[in-house]
Amino acid sequence: MPQPGSFLSLGEEQRLHRNSASEQSSKSTDGVYGDIPASFSGRSNRNCERMTRNDYEELENEVLKYFDKKFYFRPPLQDWKLPEPSKIFVADGWKELRLQQLKTELNNVKSKLDLYNLNDWHKHTRAMNKAGEIQWKLRNELEPEFLTQAWCKFYENAMSFILVTPVVVINECLNSVHLCEAPGAFITSLNHYLKLHNPGIKWKWLATTLNPYYEGNPLSCMINDDRFILQTLESWNFGLDDTGNLMDVKNMLHLAKEAAGMGDVLLVTADGSIDCQENPGEQESIVSSLHYCEAVSALHILAKGGSFLLKMFTMYEHETVCLMFLLCCSFTTVQVFKPATSKEGNSEVYVVCLEYRGKDFMEPWLEVLRKHFGPELPDKAMFPQTSIPQDFLDQLYDCTSMFKNLQTDVIETNIRVYERGRTRGEAHKMKKLRYLIADHFMKTYDMQKLSESDEVVGKSKLKKTMTLNMDPRAEEGSFSDRRKKSKLEPLQLLEVLKEELDSMAVKWPFSDDVKHLQFPPCVDGFKLQVGKPVKTVDSSKFCLGRLLRIRNQVREIARNYIHPSPSIESYVQTSPSLPNGISCENEVAANLNEESELSQKFRKAYPRRNLTILNYKEKLWTSLESGNEEAEINAFWDIMDAFDMMWREDNLLLQGYPMLTQFNVGIVYMLCHLFDEVEFVKPIKEDFAVQFIGFRQWNPKMRSFLEEVDSTIEKLRSEGCNQTVLSLFPINMLCERYSSSSKAEGESYEQPHKREDGSGQSKKLDDCDNTFYKCVTEVNHLCVKEQVSDIIASILEQQRHSSI
Ligand SMILES: C[S@@+](CC[C@H](N)C(=O)[O-])C[C@H]1O[C@@H](n2cnc3c(N)ncnc32)[C@H](O)[C@@H]1O
Repeated sequence: MPQPGSFLSLGEEQRLHRNSASEQSSKSTDGVYGDIPASFSGRSNRNCERMTRNDYEELENEVLKYFDKKFYFRPPLQDWKLPEPSKIFVADGWKELRLQQLKTELNNVKSKLDLYNLNDWHKHTRAMNKAGEIQWKLRNELEPEFLTQAWCKFYENAMSFILVTPVVVINECLNSVHLCEAPGAFITSLNHYLKLHNPGIKWKWLATTLNPYYEGNPLSCMINDDRFILQTLESWNFGLDDTGNLMDVKNMLHLAKEAAGMGDVLLVTADGSIDCQENPGEQESIVSSLHYCEAVSALHILAKGGSFLLKMFTMYEHETVCLMFLLCCSFTTVQVFKPATSKEGNSEVYVVCLEYRGKDFMEPWLEVLRKHFGPELPDKAMFPQTSIPQDFLDQLYDCTSMFKNLQTDVIETNIRVYERGRTRGEAHKMKKLRYLIADHFMKTYDMQKLSESDEVVGKSKLKKTMTLNMDPRAEEGSFSDRRKKSKLEPLQLLEVLKEELDSMAVKWPFSDDVKHLQFPPCVDGFKLQVGKPVKTVDSSKFCLGRLLRIRNQVREIARNYIHPSPSIESYVQTSPSLPNGISCENEVAANLNEESELSQKFRKAYPRRNLTILNYKEKLWTSLESGNEEAEINAFWDIMDAFDMMWREDNLLLQGYPMLTQFNVGIVYMLCHLFDEVEFVKPIKEDFAVQFIGFRQWNPKMRSFLEEVDSTIEKLRSEGCNQTVLSLFPINMLCERYSSSSKAEGESYEQPHKREDGSGQSKKLDDCDNTFYKCVTEVNHLCVKEQVSDIIASILEQQRHSSI
């Protein structure tokens, strides 16, 4: 038997886990490839001849070691015991010196990377990545659904441990919950695993993550790819406040309640991470509250006997030491695993917890843990240092030092090779090793192709799904470069942002200046979503993230560093203005100003129709910063009031109405169905409008839904519960679901919502929905760019004046 806390050899691991990947693959037990490495035979025979048997053996050992980065915690016979619940979070924080020493050693090595250019360094480590060929091979040979690095890592975990418990196999039923799961590759990976290994199992899943459609969530905290989420919206729970933030206890309990509705949950995964690039040395402290929330959520959601997979990094601080101890006492076995497809130069590991002791057993502790659930952990330690057994600390030390040594060895080697360049021999060996590792992955994990009908969404459908913010995060120079940038004087930073903005090509995509659209007279599929009010629009499904980021940075400078200028601060106004002298029966506000070029044109085009103009130009854009909710709701009421006075055939000009949030876009979408025709007009600088022609009169269904929206807003306001209406339609109704370019003529897709009025129109309607999304986003891009350029110009102008 292995020693307590030992680093298991492959054979020992197999004996302990009969179902483990190593045993499932008959080829992996005696030598990776038998006498002659099979993977050499097809390729590069010439090079193969130059290698000796010793070379092969050396490579073979390296391959085996590469797949065997595991640590197994061995509790004493009587099991480790949790301290009394009354001792939780009462003792002062503490440090374990041996672990702190490891932290210093690791950070010393990591800090050597500060001076390297990030792009160059990543290029180098990609070339040095021994697992670099695995994804390529998988994609080529199996084309799995939504293949990503996370897909591979989950698959390795599933194949290496009994995550899917025997009870699941016997009952042929699995309910799983996935925390911090965007973009969703763990789910498609689990599906692949289940379809190959337990095809009869009835599987239900539920996932949560920071909501990519909640406009208050910054894009930098989320993964840019929402294609899978968009196609599986029904299975995502974004919490009580719709932010998807798991570090809110109400959201966690809301999720736990929905999960309980599925039946016993026997698998929970938690893959949360936070961008720590600005402070890599403190990664562990930055993510510790997220890990706490993930683990405590799992303890609330899992049924007795269930499995929990948690992504973690280092384990040097009391927060993580206590969390690991909590897990070791809550599950029968706990192991730490670094998958072959997890980059060797980072600290990422997976904690695999099997056989949960159950909520009933844990409830006295859970009651206290719930109280401390949140984005900030208390400054006290979860458990007193004296209550953590020495035996556990020793094993944790062995575990962390093993993973630390693996990481620092790789970083040191990478630095050495980066400095002096790779020799031909090294490059050749690396090529072989990459090939062998990919081959070993395929054989050991018994990788096979899945038919598309067995996939969750279907890869062809996913490929065609549109997403706006897919551009990879632009890496900007080295860590030191970015530090310098963050220390730039506001005006210097403004110049940098101006350059970035100018380099972005944004143009009107249609041949005519006006895009005409026609919608059917009624829309179905309303879904009123309530949640936390959006104070500042930090992300939007209707605008490029990069543009919004620049816009918000510029606004920040304008607000914090520059004296408020009238052009920036005076916009905070919630009523629309009505241009002077217009034949408008609905005087919503008496604030009259000059008629704009756009409205003059519109009036000339339809001289005999009664025209209502609601002009938010230069008002709502900025009020987004100083209270988006208030501005949105006031505008909603204005629009409703205007409708009360409208007659059949009347026209409406909605000017400067911001379309960055689901709520506002939902209103515009609704309006589109109330008029015979809709025109999106190419913006003139920041001035833009949507023209609605020929009021059709109210459809009773739409009317009653809007009344419901109205009364819900009133109710939430009177309750003072910090909740508001966030959207009127599911997001997948408002955006382009499929790329029009990839859609073949006559091809139809399964619709997430049904139209009321006859099947003959369905293709036409889809096209008009897709164009609607395009119109909204393109108008936003043009206007946001203009608006930001204007603010930059006015700030620079102001500075010039003040320096004269
Ligand atoms: C590495 S990704 C998960 C990848 C995923 N397992 C997959 O297979 O595609 C980490 C995720 O954690 C999410 N996350 C970070 N902080 C969160 C929080 N407070 N609440 C919910 N999700 C969070 C991020 O938005 C991101 O989507």
